[in-house]
Amino acid sequence: MIDAAGFWDKHAAKYAQAKIRNTEAYEYTLGRTRSFLNASDRVLEIGCGTGSTALALAANVQSITGTDVSPAMIEIAKDKAADQRSENATFQVMSAEEAVALDAPFDVVMGFNIFHLTDDPKTLFAAIHKQLAPGGYFISKTPCLAEPSIGLKRFAIRAIIPVMQLIGKAPLVHCLTNADVDRMITEAGFEIVEAGNYPAMSRYVVARRV
Ligand SMILES: C[S@@+](CC[C@H](N)C(=O)[O-])C[C@H]1O[C@@H](n2cnc3c(N)ncnc32)[C@H](O)[C@@H]1O
Repeated sequence: MIDAAGFWDKHAAKYAQAKIRNTEAYEYTLGRTRSFLNASDRVLEIGCGTGSTALALAANVQSITGTDVSPAMIEIAKDKAADQRSENATFQVMSAEEAVALDAPFDVVMGFNIFHLTDDPKTLFAAIHKQLAPGGYFISKTPCLAEPSIGLKRFAIRAIIPVMQLIGKAPLVHCLTNADVDRMITEAGFEIVEAGNYPAMSRYVVARRV
């Protein structure tokens, strides 16, 4: 399997230029996420990419630490933070496994479009549960490529991914359903307080540490 940092490094510049595919869904979930944040929150983002979401939310919290396995993504995020003169958003190169082992208790941990790309999302969710302060929120969005409600498209996606992986054009990808995501989060000890699909193929979940 192609190494994640190498794969995403190669795509970082293009990713930074790409338009958000579904602006309405992105803005909706950004707004919902913002509604769970407090000015005193210390926030961790896992797989932050080029930092757009972290920087969009930075004004609503005390601090936000964006992490990503790809040095090229983090380089772009740091440049954007400097351009925007952000004082409370910092970015570090770190795998998801390293990020969930960070010591500081966080009030909110977020990860968007990342957990289906990690080796073991279930173990990460359990580590995030430990990492959060009591009552803290875990907010995630996960593409669900095996979700029956997306129709026949899921069969095409599942057929093409192994071929793309074979030729180095796709990284590790788990094909999950909405129910898989909800179950893994609940089994990690969270209470799901809000969930929906924005856009249809992506499971957005706000979960509270109980
Ligand atoms: C599809 S992009 C999503 C980026 C951003 N969260 C967003 O929603 O636009 C996936 C990101 O996850 C990062 N990534 C992939 N595997 C990772 C891992 N194991 N640990 C940390 N980051 C990872 C990639 O470098 C990339 O920036």
